[in-house]
Amino acid sequence: MCDNNIIRHKLDEDGYLVLEDFLRPAECDELKAAGEELTQNLPDEGQKSLFSTKETGKQQLRDKYFLESNDNISYFFEVDALDSEGKLTVDPSIALNKVGHALHLQHQIFRCYTYSDRVKMVCRQLGLKEPAVVQSMYIYKNPRLGGEVIPHQDATYLHTEPIPAIGFWIALEDATIQNGCLWMARGSHKSGVHRRLTRNPNNDDKGALIYDRPEPVYPESSFTPVPVSKGTCILIHGHVVHKSAHNKSDKSRHAYTFHVIEKQNNQYSPDNWLQEGPKAPFVNVYTTPQIE
Ligand code: FE2
Repeated sequence: MCDNNIIRHKLDEDGYLVLEDFLRPAECDELKAAGEELTQNLPDEGQKSLFSTKETGKQQLRDKYFLESNDNISYFFEVDALDSEGKLTVDPSIALNKVGHALHLQHQIFRCYTYSDRVKMVCRQLGLKEPAVVQSMYIYKNPRLGGEVIPHQDATYLHTEPIPAIGFWIALEDATIQNGCLWMARGSHKSGVHRRLTRNPNNDDKGALIYDRPEPVYPESSFTPVPVSKGTCILIHGHVVHKSAHNKSDKSRHAYTFHVIEKQNNQYSPDNWLQEGPKAPFVNVYTTPQIE
């Protein structure tokens, strides 16, 4: 079996694939410095948006800031980093949960790594004909503040059919059980999409985004921790269930992640929260985006 088939086969079999040494340490440091620089440019008081996959979900769903982050660099704070009036309770350098969702277009360094030869090569090895990047995020998972990400499938948020999206998740620092590495439910991608978050077609009080089903319950025993060293890329099948724990350690766990969809003979769901826009085209991975 050739390398291409091994990569495709592993991803199809397990629902994820670990690619060690995807980036060199110095490349991780360059991306990490860019991520840290973003924390020096935080929004003004009162304009801060939380990001949580847990109890503040309803507030977040109603948040216009989130919906309008498809074509720019938006800042999402940790729940524990703000007080009830939206004032920072911690140093700005550790206050963010993530930044997104158009770093791959709007930031030169992230654009360069997203449309790199290595990413193009992996897409070719996966057999993708017309892969396009739809979103990107810098995830901080800062010491003691970095929140839990509940078990989910990426297809809940980025639904395509019949070919699911693929996540590229790149560890910019060692990701360990202590600082909140990914946990994967191997093989769980074989049971379809369990829940979707869509734009609400009705102008009712349920908010701009709605879930079509209740939150699924997954047994703890189905998850395996996937600790990886700095520079490792984990490919994530759009249907595999995964999660990460609260970072209770004193070490950060920065990561850069983006999602690729197949555009050929595949439909990007028109009710996904994130949609293509004039400033956020879904640019083919095999090209280089020309953005000012
Ligand atoms: Fe995810």
